[in-house]
Amino acid sequence: MKKSTLTLLLVVLLIPMVSVNAQQHWMNEGGEREDAMTLTPNLENGLEVYEVCSGCHLPEGWGTQEGTFPQLAGQHSSVSIKQLDDIRELNRDNPTMYPFALPRSIGGAQSLADVVAYIEKLPMNPDNGKGEWAAGTSEFKQGKKLYLDNCIQCHGENGEGMADKFYPLIMGQHYKYMLRQFEWIRDGKRRNANPDMIKQIASFNDKDMQMVINYVSRIPVPKDMVAPSKDWMNPDFD
Ligand code: HEC
Ligand code: HEC
Repeated sequence: MKKSTLTLLLVVLLIPMVSVNAQQHWMNEGGEREDAMTLTPNLENGLEVYEVCSGCHLPEGWGTQEGTFPQLAGQHSSVSIKQLDDIRELNRDNPTMYPFALPRSIGGAQSLADVVAYIEKLPMNPDNGKGEWAAGTSEFKQGKKLYLDNCIQCHGENGEGMADKFYPLIMGQHYKYMLRQFEWIRDGKRRNANPDMIKQIASFNDKDMQMVINYVSRIPVPKDMVAPSKDWMNPDFD
């Protein structure tokens, strides 16, 4: 084969690879996510790995009310594994966190299994960031209706998610973080999003989005999942 033909062939073969990478891609087959799901977690190592994460997500795993950093506490370990794997594989853009999430920083599949098990056991923030519309307002009611009509089949009646399907727990999450993610999912910027969710919310305008997320941010989290007070400090970090 002539060298120029070979080059052309390579170019033709590589172009689709590049564009496939930039497309929506919900679930990787095989690889680290599947490995991590089968491993038995070691919570002690989970705490050790979590130290670097606590710099942004805080020792309690509560993130920040203004929504820059999401709450991680209480999230299903399957969901956190998927998100971490997607971030590591550049299937979900997170330039702030990317260098801290790499295998050279925290280790391989076992470390993923360990850190997500640690995160899942942390009690949740009793004082998450909320939208502006309290119960009783018409926006709250409209948001609730949108939620019941469009979201419960995946996120559950109370935003509890579904661990075995990788559907995130969203109750107790910060309003502004969820609003940003929801918008990115709707507009195709969060590439690892579930295609059925994208279809379900395609017709949501910005007000619908604010109302439904306002409602989610105000779903009460069961007492046995939250910390005793908003001043609770993670004793593992004494
Ligand atoms: C330098 C700050 C920073 C560090 C360190 C960091 N993160 Fe993050 N993390 C973020 C930000 C910012 C986001 C949200 C990005 C966005 O808005 O899409 C995030 C998102 C996540 C998510 C997705 C949450 C969801 O609800 O989908 C997970 C899981 C996560 N981080 C886990 C970790 C773990 C585990 C570590 C430690 C190994 C870690 N992070 C370290 C900043 C950080
Ligand atoms: C077909 C199932 C499905 C439906 C319907 C659905 N979602 Fe989702 N949602 C998902 C999945 C799966 C993810 C995580 C995507 C990923 O892996 O990155 C997600 C992610 C989210 C997130 C980001 C969570 C995070 O921690 O980053 C929010 C917020 C959210 N959904 C809210 C909603 C709301 C509100 C509705 C209804 C208007 C809705 N979803 C409908 C499956 C669904």
